[in-house]
Amino acid sequence: MSHARPGATAEASVGWRRRQISEREPREPSPGADHQRFFEFGQRDGRVRGAVAERALLHLEPRPKRRERRPCSASNSGYLQACRAVRVIFSDPCWSAVSAERGSLESSALLDQRHGPLSDIGSDHFPMTTKSQGWADLYAWQLDRSSRTPLSRQVYMQVCSAVLSGALRAGARVPSSRTMASRLGVARASVVSAYEQLLAEGYVESRRGSGTFISGEVVGLAMARRTAPRAIKRAAVPTSARDFPDFERSAVQGEARPFNTGRTLVDARTAETWRRLTHRAVRGLGPNDLGYTDPAGLAELRGNICDYLRAARAVRCEPDQIVITAGTQQAIDIAIRVLLAPGDEVWVEDPGYPLTHAQLLLAKVRPHAIPVDVQGLVVGAGRHTSPRARAIFVTPSHQFPTGVAMSMARRLELLAWARQNGAFIVEDDYTSEFRYSGPPLASLQGLDDSERVIYVGTLNKALFPGLRIGYAVVPRSLLPAFVGARYLIDRQPATLQQAVVSEFMQQGHFTAHIRRMRQLYREQRDALAETLTRGAAGRLDVALPDQGMHLVAYLGDGLSDIAIEAAAQRAGIVVRAISRFYHAARPRPGLILGFSGFPRQLIVPAAARLATLITNHSGN
Ligand SMILES: Cc1ncc(COP(=O)(O)O)c(C=O)c1O
Repeated sequence: MSHARPGATAEASVGWRRRQISEREPREPSPGADHQRFFEFGQRDGRVRGAVAERALLHLEPRPKRRERRPCSASNSGYLQACRAVRVIFSDPCWSAVSAERGSLESSALLDQRHGPLSDIGSDHFPMTTKSQGWADLYAWQLDRSSRTPLSRQVYMQVCSAVLSGALRAGARVPSSRTMASRLGVARASVVSAYEQLLAEGYVESRRGSGTFISGEVVGLAMARRTAPRAIKRAAVPTSARDFPDFERSAVQGEARPFNTGRTLVDARTAETWRRLTHRAVRGLGPNDLGYTDPAGLAELRGNICDYLRAARAVRCEPDQIVITAGTQQAIDIAIRVLLAPGDEVWVEDPGYPLTHAQLLLAKVRPHAIPVDVQGLVVGAGRHTSPRARAIFVTPSHQFPTGVAMSMARRLELLAWARQNGAFIVEDDYTSEFRYSGPPLASLQGLDDSERVIYVGTLNKALFPGLRIGYAVVPRSLLPAFVGARYLIDRQPATLQQAVVSEFMQQGHFTAHIRRMRQLYREQRDALAETLTRGAAGRLDVALPDQGMHLVAYLGDGLSDIAIEAAAQRAGIVVRAISRFYHAARPRPGLILGFSGFPRQLIVPAAARLATLITNHSGN
């Protein structure tokens, strides 16, 4: 593949597919007819991975003429189901999206054949919906043989009650009459007669060649009759349950809403590699992998992470010190359990990462908010405020949320203090992969020669949050407890995902992905910063970060970040007021804006609207 002319494979596969589609009839001038044939071809041939993803790409494309648009209807959904990773996407014969084969950034671009690249392809552009078969096969169908009700009637009533209780949903396939008869040990004629009755009453519908399915209409009526769940009285909730904060639904990254933070981009190249490696990993899993495995994670993955951390982050480690977790969140949870007892004091950054703070409160630990200045955590303030702290939680490479990098003097001061006082440091090194300028920063852990740092990293930022794989590098004295805690909480990480990630790293795809994303995210950062600065000069001071996936735009003129956050939300723009992340320190009002993973076409207009909104905002 690497020797082929760039783009040749993609073009060949486009050509091949085109040849499979019957020629347009002379009397059929409309491009819609081409679409139709393409859909039909796709439905016939499940092996094809090219996709007519008109709906998914619509927001990036020039608006087609009305008559050319074709909604994703039931008739073409079968085709979209067949798409796993998209190689070439057509929405119009003139447009295509070319993936891995091109071997460059352009390889993940939506192309207009006449005018060249239109847009990057993100993970949004890989829709996958599958038709559910439902759970009727596992439903506990039962007959009461002592009852005087005829068996056929009992079968009928069983299906009715499964529908009305909501146990079986619309579209669920009902077992064939033969299967049902054999499962219940009744004559097939009894089942056939029950099914006929159900059909006549509209409980089920029959699709020729496919089987019998629960009908949507009746289920809809049944659901409408159901009463809403009763509100739970507060007194009925145990006190400990009340300690948990409500989950903020806005944190769900379903759609590309600028400037939600922590969004990552999986381009077509990575998606395709992932698909290939997943297939390979599934085939390669042996009996040992399929059973319970080491709670600390797969040896190969730990080895690869160890090599990566030594080279890229100057972390001092051996593979056996790496514990695979579900991400930073779980690593910090384990660190708290291993290091701290209720009532212990700890230092957290002010402003700081709210989830760490919330986890500490849940563990009944006493977090002291220590201010952050241009050099990072103010160690002197910590020493003064909480001299007996047992642990310090820091983000030294890219302080969350300010983006400040901790100076060398502060790092050495912090390590010395921890050593002298027998405290541990939990270093959260999130987004260290995305450094755009300035000298590379080594980890704090790499400076520690007294084994007082638990280093925590995550692949959920480097790759994608849905992955749920992170790691901790644990000092040897804490290793047995750390692995033991991981085992009790969650037994072990998922084997298949680990195997895929390990190969992804081993074969160099991780490095290549980081390189491509670093380039893209930097462009996205610049597009955001430039548009904001141009549009709201004088009212905004944009801090351009050297690293990470978000920036902070500080507000001037006594503007309230909370008020702007609310106004932006009304305008469909997501910003977070930085003052929400402060505890004791006096906040400098500003907005946290995620830039990573949003195409320029989304960033520029949204940032311009935000700039106008800020310019026109009248004070608090
Ligand atoms: C400071 C900080 N650490 C870590 C993470 C990543 O956490 P996880 O690996 O659990 O997804 C985030 C995500 O937003 C973060 O802001």
